[in-house]
Amino acid sequence: MKILLLGSGGREHALAWKINQSVWTNPLYIAPGNAGTGLCGINVPIQVNDFEGISAFCKKEKIEMVIVGPEEPLVNGLYDFFKADPELADIYFIGPSKEGAQLEGSKAYAKAFMDRHNIPTAKYREFNASNFEEGVKYVAEHPLPIVLKADGLAAGKGVLICHSNVEAVSEFELMIQQSKFGEASKTVVVEEFLDGIELSVFALTDGKDYVILPEAKDYKRIGEGDTGLNTGGMGAVSPVPFATPGFMFKVEEKIIKPTINGLKQENIDYKGFVFFGLIKVGNEPYVIEYNCRMGDPETEVVIPRLENDLVGLFVATAKQELGEMKINIDRRPAATVMAVSGGYPGNYEKGFEIQGLKRAVPEGSMVFHAGTSNQGDAVLTNGGRVLCVTSYGASVHDAAQKSLDFMDRIFFEGMYYRSDIAYEFAPKF
Ligand code: AMP
Ligand code: GLY
Repeated sequence: MKILLLGSGGREHALAWKINQSVWTNPLYIAPGNAGTGLCGINVPIQVNDFEGISAFCKKEKIEMVIVGPEEPLVNGLYDFFKADPELADIYFIGPSKEGAQLEGSKAYAKAFMDRHNIPTAKYREFNASNFEEGVKYVAEHPLPIVLKADGLAAGKGVLICHSNVEAVSEFELMIQQSKFGEASKTVVVEEFLDGIELSVFALTDGKDYVILPEAKDYKRIGEGDTGLNTGGMGAVSPVPFATPGFMFKVEEKIIKPTINGLKQENIDYKGFVFFGLIKVGNEPYVIEYNCRMGDPETEVVIPRLENDLVGLFVATAKQELGEMKINIDRRPAATVMAVSGGYPGNYEKGFEIQGLKRAVPEGSMVFHAGTSNQGDAVLTNGGRVLCVTSYGASVHDAAQKSLDFMDRIFFEGMYYRSDIAYEFAPKF
């Protein structure tokens, strides 16, 4: 089967690595990909939002399956674009419709969806220019802390947690009146703060049935001990030690099932991943956010723990036969550590040569590229998050130590990584 995977991050390298192992794959193209995906298939220089370019490539190469890594093309309606073209409509497409992608593309849409289907989430109100004055009053009197969320996609920056009402009112005004996050903050969701621990749960759905993939926890802050600025993710572990079978049963009954049933009831076309960003408060799960794709860097620990043929699962998804599939999980815990460019998540330079990639990677570890590019024989840094090392281990903490061992042998100028991934799961003596 001729497959096209869209994206260029660590998530896409992990997906490409897995897709490349499938008996179905012949060949795999990645657009635009990175230096790592180029080891698993053929990179093609087409950007993920270039719908015309993607269409022309699919027609020319007679692509049979398209898998979308990032959210943006989905929120922009790539699925609907394919369905509207008779020459593309029959291609197996992994990713939801524009409507389904609203679960990620609009926080207000997601909150209203959860309300309609009784899915546990923080209490909220939605405001825009039309009820702005009411919003100011609401925010001024809201118990602390207050969570303000730009409705639309804001590159992971649209959520503010305010610890004073004065600060919250001022941010609220900036978001709605001064378009602090552009169009994305014309509507603002104001939420109660939930105090708990976060985890990521992933399902693959064919719109009728679903399978649950291994859960994961990511480390979003730049600094050790979860301090400093938010990033795209500095590491991840799977499984999540506090996600006990009893807790995961609640997640499935109270969150996953009602979500998939809700999509079905509302006739929303959804054949793809659902990423549930959850928070465990006491022993109860609540949804913090939905994403319409896999997580990054969660994919880099989830996919190595999946024993199934991934393309086989995608074929079942496209044919609505997921109900017949059973997920097999590698019992070994996994952890990934992300190396980033100096200065990230602020300004950083690119184009430094990465050394140490030709070394043999020890059994049980693997390198996934994120922001990398090829220049002749050399691999150069080409983004904020550059590459990660994933390892299996006896525990997630042990797996993280193994990843660090190999990371120590890789070098590029300005390289930084957290050496405390999985710290809270370290053995206690
Ligand atoms: P989001 O972009 O919705 O994932 O929000 C970014 C981060 O803000 C989350 O990962 C949480 O750490 C935090 N957050 C969002 N909503 C809440 C909430 N209602 N209560 C507590 N923390 C939240
Ligand atoms: N690691 C969080 C995300 O992919 O959104």
